[in-house]
Amino acid sequence: MAKKLILISILKFLTFMTLFTKSNTQSPNYVGDDCHNSKEQSLTKTYKSNLNKVLSWLSSDALTSKGYNHTNIGGNTVDGVYGLYDCRGDVTGSFCQFCVSTAASDILQHCPNRASAVIWYNFCILRYSNHDFFGNLTITPSWQILGSKNITKPQELEKAEDNMQSLIREATLVTHNLYAMGEFNLSNSPSSQKRYGLVQCSRDLSDNQCSQCLEDMLDKVPKCCGTKIGWQVLAPSCLIKYDDYMFFQLISQTSAPLPNPADQGGSSKSITLIIITIVIVLVALALISCCIYFIWRRYQSNKDGLPLESLDDLIQGEDSLHGDLPTIPLIWIRQSTNNFSELCQLGEGGFGPVYKGNLVDGTEVAIKRLSKTSCQGLEEFKNEVIFIAKLQHRNLVRLLGCCIEENEKLLVYEYMSNSSLSFHLFNEEKRNHLDWKLRFSIVNGIAKGLLYLHEDSRLRVIHRDLKASNVLLDQEMNPKISDFGLARAFEKGQSEENTARIMGTYGYMSPEYAMEGLYSVKSDVFSFGVLLLEIICGKRNSGFYLADHGQTLLIYSWRLWCEGKCLELLDPILEKTYIANEVMKCIHIGLLCVQEDAIDRPNMSNVVVMLASDTMTLPNPNHPAFSVGRRVREDESTSKASKDISGNEITMSNILPR
Ligand SMILES: *[C@@H]1O[C@H](CO)[C@@H](O)[C@H](O)[C@H]1NC(C)=O
Ligand SMILES: *[C@@H]1O[C@H](CO)[C@@H](O)[C@H](O)[C@H]1NC(C)=O
Ligand SMILES: *[C@@H]1O[C@H](CO)[C@@H](O)[C@H](O)[C@H]1NC(C)=O
Ligand SMILES: *[C@@H]1O[C@H](CO)[C@@H](O)[C@H](O)[C@H]1NC(C)=O
Repeated sequence: MAKKLILISILKFLTFMTLFTKSNTQSPNYVGDDCHNSKEQSLTKTYKSNLNKVLSWLSSDALTSKGYNHTNIGGNTVDGVYGLYDCRGDVTGSFCQFCVSTAASDILQHCPNRASAVIWYNFCILRYSNHDFFGNLTITPSWQILGSKNITKPQELEKAEDNMQSLIREATLVTHNLYAMGEFNLSNSPSSQKRYGLVQCSRDLSDNQCSQCLEDMLDKVPKCCGTKIGWQVLAPSCLIKYDDYMFFQLISQTSAPLPNPADQGGSSKSITLIIITIVIVLVALALISCCIYFIWRRYQSNKDGLPLESLDDLIQGEDSLHGDLPTIPLIWIRQSTNNFSELCQLGEGGFGPVYKGNLVDGTEVAIKRLSKTSCQGLEEFKNEVIFIAKLQHRNLVRLLGCCIEENEKLLVYEYMSNSSLSFHLFNEEKRNHLDWKLRFSIVNGIAKGLLYLHEDSRLRVIHRDLKASNVLLDQEMNPKISDFGLARAFEKGQSEENTARIMGTYGYMSPEYAMEGLYSVKSDVFSFGVLLLEIICGKRNSGFYLADHGQTLLIYSWRLWCEGKCLELLDPILEKTYIANEVMKCIHIGLLCVQEDAIDRPNMSNVVVMLASDTMTLPNPNHPAFSVGRRVREDESTSKASKDISGNEITMSNILPR
């Protein structure tokens, strides 16, 4: 228990560190642009050079300012350029700077060859013009961004307007900050729903101009947006935003402390100080966790292998999570999934719902959210972070970042547009599109991914839950193994591990694992064999029993094999596209992989070689395991076999005698 707590706090610390150092690597959300009705024109050389100077001044100023500033280069001449940026009121320091510098580099692409332009991001606005616009109120063009949810009570609009009015008063009459944000109760009951509002003006305006601009935007709401719960109305001089989740936060508190512009010399000193402090804290933490780890190990040496075992090894390794995994601010995930709206939900994953979202640069991502009620989930979540962040292969799904904030734990993956293999393979309709060539390439991809896990990766990993629904397919139908919630690392020379908690999926579990909790690379090989046979026949191993044959897929395949009729196993859909010797080879390999004795099964490097070779003579398979998870058998041979493998590495010659 103590160990877990410590590990969690180390994880948290590392996450914080990642946020600290990586906050600059995230890009802000592009919202829109307006090229100011200005036509594309050829700009003079001087204008272009002045414009570039303005943009780079704005980008660098954003770090040290209060979140807004403006400048002019070239004076009030034909080639003079005026530029302004304004970050959202709650965004300062490196967050603001990153937004502004992104905007400065994008604006020339969005509005090429324009004498003036405006670009909006979720965290900032950037404008430039050949006219002096500082202090001028600009309320056109304006536009709206709407949420998807409808309001349920017509009174909500009135309440929203009242609340926004009070924010406008706060921004202009009370604080004079020209921005304000707040949280409201929709009703007076204690369990009332909450709403959030933000108003903000360009901070070169006067209070009066600001309130005029905001009122103008608010006037548009009943017509444009009143029926929706979330809305945003923007103009070059101001914006208002209303939604049912807290889309703002005082980000500046978690970003680097703002150096005082008046105290330039001190700022590098204070950064050095921060770095030194961090290093000291890190070293101390590493030492403490080392001690605790060794003490703990002694206590635990007689217990089962727990997933967290590998966690400390990793965290203590010199290149821990810290360097590998970017942290993504919760607020961006909230925004991109519409505050975890059901419309964005892709499905249920191992430890909670999975949502579709976008990274700020537009990349589509899948976001796994740990459900708060799941205890098991937390363990699997950590496991997933550990393994997948460390592993990179074209046949493994890629983890792009994580987010541990405000009780939310989220993992962000590359988005697989073609869902999972089981979605295609076990669907009458979709299966038609899986011709033999494609299935064979999927089999090869899975084999390579698994080989990487077992032998080539930095950690040697046993996946323990390989199945059709854990194989995802990208745009080009390349298979990628996912879901490392149950994975275990094993050391070189260690070939099997024992656990009292048997977890995985019946139908894919090897007999020695299902019955005795023994797992090794050979249990993954077994699952691979089952998957391979499923891909060939297009049916689930688990569903097969109940269907026509009255026996498991494995036994049925083996019977056909013995009778020399193994092509009967083939999915009838493949009639036209199959290549007989490849199919035979795959069935043969599948049967080798599901053999009852783990020691007889090939390892993944054998499998990859066998799949690639047309001429190799394969050994005859032995009887496959009986229906695993259905009948529990007490059989000496299983336990004997598993004891054997702990001593001997199986060599190629054992399996491939000729
Ligand atoms: C804007 O930039 C000028 C010139 O560098 C500086 O003196 C001023 O303090 C800045 N304003 C703000 C609000 O940071
Ligand atoms: C801004 O306002 C000033 C004075 O009110 C005016 O002279 C100027 O033309 C305006 N600039 C733009 C770009 O509208
Ligand atoms: C909201 O209302 C519109 C029209 O009244 C309807 O077409 C739409 O489906 C509704 N959306 C939701 C999410 O209920
Ligand atoms: C909203 O309601 C809760 C519970 O009744 C209360 O604690 C909170 O202060 C209220 N917030 C506002 C902004 O009125």
